Amino acid sequence: MCGIIGYIGKEKAAPILVKGLKNLEYRGYDSAGFSTIDNGTLLIAKDTGKLNEIELKININELHGCVGISHCRWATHGNVTQENAHPHTDCTGRISIVHNGIIENFSELKEMLIAKNHKFSSSTDTEVISHLIEEYYTGNLPEAVRKALKEVEGSYALGVLSADEPDIIVAARNESPLIIGKGKNAMFIASDVPAILEHTNEIIYLDDKEIAVLTKSNFRVFDLDGREKKKEIKKISWSMEDAEKGGYEHFMLKEIYEQPRAIEDTINGRLKNGTINIKEELGMDENSLKKISKIIIVACGTSWHSALVGEFMLEELAKIPVEVEYASEFRYRNPIVDADTLVIGISQSGETADTIAAMKEAKRRGAHVISICNVMGSSITRISDAVLYTRAGPEIGVASTKAFTTQLAVLYLLTMHFAKLKNTLTEKQLQSMAQGIRKIPLQMQAVLEKDAETEELAHLYHKSTNALYLGRGANFPIALEGALKMKEVSYIHAEGYPAAEMKHGPIALIDKNMPVVFVAPYDTYTYKKILGNIEEVKARGGIVIAIATEGDREVAKKAGHVIYIPDSLYTLSSMLSVIPLQLLAYHTAKKLGKDVDKPRSLAKSVTVE
Ligand code: G6P
Repeated sequence: MCGIIGYIGKEKAAPILVKGLKNLEYRGYDSAGFSTIDNGTLLIAKDTGKLNEIELKININELHGCVGISHCRWATHGNVTQENAHPHTDCTGRISIVHNGIIENFSELKEMLIAKNHKFSSSTDTEVISHLIEEYYTGNLPEAVRKALKEVEGSYALGVLSADEPDIIVAARNESPLIIGKGKNAMFIASDVPAILEHTNEIIYLDDKEIAVLTKSNFRVFDLDGREKKKEIKKISWSMEDAEKGGYEHFMLKEIYEQPRAIEDTINGRLKNGTINIKEELGMDENSLKKISKIIIVACGTSWHSALVGEFMLEELAKIPVEVEYASEFRYRNPIVDADTLVIGISQSGETADTIAAMKEAKRRGAHVISICNVMGSSITRISDAVLYTRAGPEIGVASTKAFTTQLAVLYLLTMHFAKLKNTLTEKQLQSMAQGIRKIPLQMQAVLEKDAETEELAHLYHKSTNALYLGRGANFPIALEGALKMKEVSYIHAEGYPAAEMKHGPIALIDKNMPVVFVAPYDTYTYKKILGNIEEVKARGGIVIAIATEGDREVAKKAGHVIYIPDSLYTLSSMLSVIPLQLLAYHTAKKLGKDVDKPRSLAKSVTVE
């Protein structure tokens, strides 16, 4: 949460910062602010609201200078007010800082600083850092930042300016993401790649407890003891086009439509002539992999839902016991893990604080820890023993869509790998699995072509105040995900349930105003039972919307509305059945006039506990 971008170069900083910050707004959008240095004077402009509203309130053109930092906020400490918006300054108004993270010992620090006569003008935790830097400042900003950070506990990605040193930006990170971008005659700092992609694809990933000093042509990185560190410059393959809307009205819609391509990219090179090829990426020798007796998957939000589908796949086909844990719960329990436990962290951003902490905890307890992640070089990838990347490309819409289905694709490939290794499937079955996933991009395309049907459903039911989503097996997590998508973007209360659990509570809610979405692709175990559940809803006057397999006439006879998905292997059906639910949430939110890409109170990447 919260986005940071900083620029130092030959051009006017403010317009570059505004543009870059727009690509980071998915991280926070309740307020934003800028600070530049012009002729030895520190300039600040900040306000509440989304960036396009703020642009009307403040005159960006008045922010002169070729060095600057900026911030979009997702409030943690202190209300959404102009005073609490970043940048924050010290008492002299000559030092400014932007911060993403949480300073855990801010109360003690604040008390100490107030006793030394520092005057605070906000109720944020961040402001203590600017005063602490002031306390240590004797004309050497990197040194003052270093000394200040030695006293700080908690997480931070920081950008710091001093009007007395207009030729540098000082940056630092601990447990919050921060990258450096090396441009032509310019250097950048940013929370995430899309903010600076227009200017450079040469990225330096800062590690925890590192401080960087940027000039317009160079950067140097130090540890908190002042020792210089060597850093590698990485070239990333994302293009600016990937990070733009490309003619779609919203990122969410664009990203839903990108799913066939994203799956294609994710399986590309990992399946050769029907043989699974992820051994090297997994980085574990066969014997250790064979010994794995249990898998624990830790994740949050949508990634947690993909973990549940993964559990179904791995247990069903590779016969390995799997536990799926909310990362936030796992980290504070006493989980039983040992050297034969494989812990998999799933995260789109690779920066979710709870998932990072859960993975660190698993590592501490001796587990082998790998990740499924979309962002190269992100924190989670750097604490993993191995990474299986989803190749979804940048996901900007706050509601996750293409990251979800690519996570399912990776979990499917991992399942194939284990099934082969543990001999739980025949060669013929593995071949059929490979053929099955190869068909998915085209099948997804076919589902996307039915977009008008989901739009019509949104038209009919967008005024509902509640909705129920039911599914079983590999499609129970899809019911959860469909309900989550609806809540996130339309603010309609929606619940996901295993279909058979309906009779233990939710059935009491069903009346003629309640849309009930059944995720019911054909399967040999539970399909007939779901038909029974549909009857139960109908008997209570509920509105039945079903996602069913092409050609299924039984469901058509019972449901009020059916959206068909192509026939696939059942373990793959979740990758198709989720698409109409993503579209339904999107169109409903749009009809209700909600800000689809920036839903209230949410952030794309939750970097705080
Ligand atoms: C936030 C986002 C969700 C996402 C979750 C986990 O809540 O709004 O879309 O699923 O974080 O994020 P991760 O990046 O770890 O997958």
